Amino acid sequence: MLITLEGIDGSGKTTVWEVLREEFPEFVFTREPTETWYGEGVERSMGDDDADSLAELFLFTADHANHLSETIRPALAEGEVVISDRYSDSRYAYQAVSIEDHVKRPLEYIRGVHQPWTRPPDATLYFDVDPETGAARSGATNKFEQAAFLSQVQSNYERLFDAEPERFVRIDASRSPEEVLDSAVNAVERLLEDRDE
Ligand code: TMP
Repeated sequence: MLITLEGIDGSGKTTVWEVLREEFPEFVFTREPTETWYGEGVERSMGDDDADSLAELFLFTADHANHLSETIRPALAEGEVVISDRYSDSRYAYQAVSIEDHVKRPLEYIRGVHQPWTRPPDATLYFDVDPETGAARSGATNKFEQAAFLSQVQSNYERLFDAEPERFVRIDASRSPEEVLDSAVNAVERLLEDRDE
């Protein structure tokens, strides 16, 4: 079973991922961008305000391809539960904004690039916070962490949510960290119960 955590910058999902790791030590925990040289390429591109946005999409996508073959598919083949902090939806939500001047219908384009070879998540916890709070919490340290940009990213997440409501669990991330953590742990427990039924 593959569970992913998604949300705009500053939604608190990485803190949740760390707590889930303590709560469920038997699961495989992973993230995108990964800690490989592909992921380093992504980090370099994100640190460059003038990076070509299409090139950046394909760096993220290359990192995902390697993540699938090196980590995700082997773990799932072993019957593990995998929890990934960000996954393909991050590309559909973020890069669909960053490449919109280059490609018509960018979200559909990026989904199309992934569709033949990716492995969709079984469930996605979506940490929902408004873009102003997200930008303020994240400290606006990279080019994506601006409220106007995050507002467009959020609209894309909502489109993904509307297209597949059964895959997503929406978690109100504007609440206190304790409440958000409790909701996330409960959501994972429910997903496991549903799987075992
Ligand atoms: P983080 O906030 O989870 O550390 O993610 C790092 C940044 O990378 C964040 O601003 C979102 C961005 N990102 C994308 O734009 N596309 C992607 O596919 C992924 C995985 C991350």
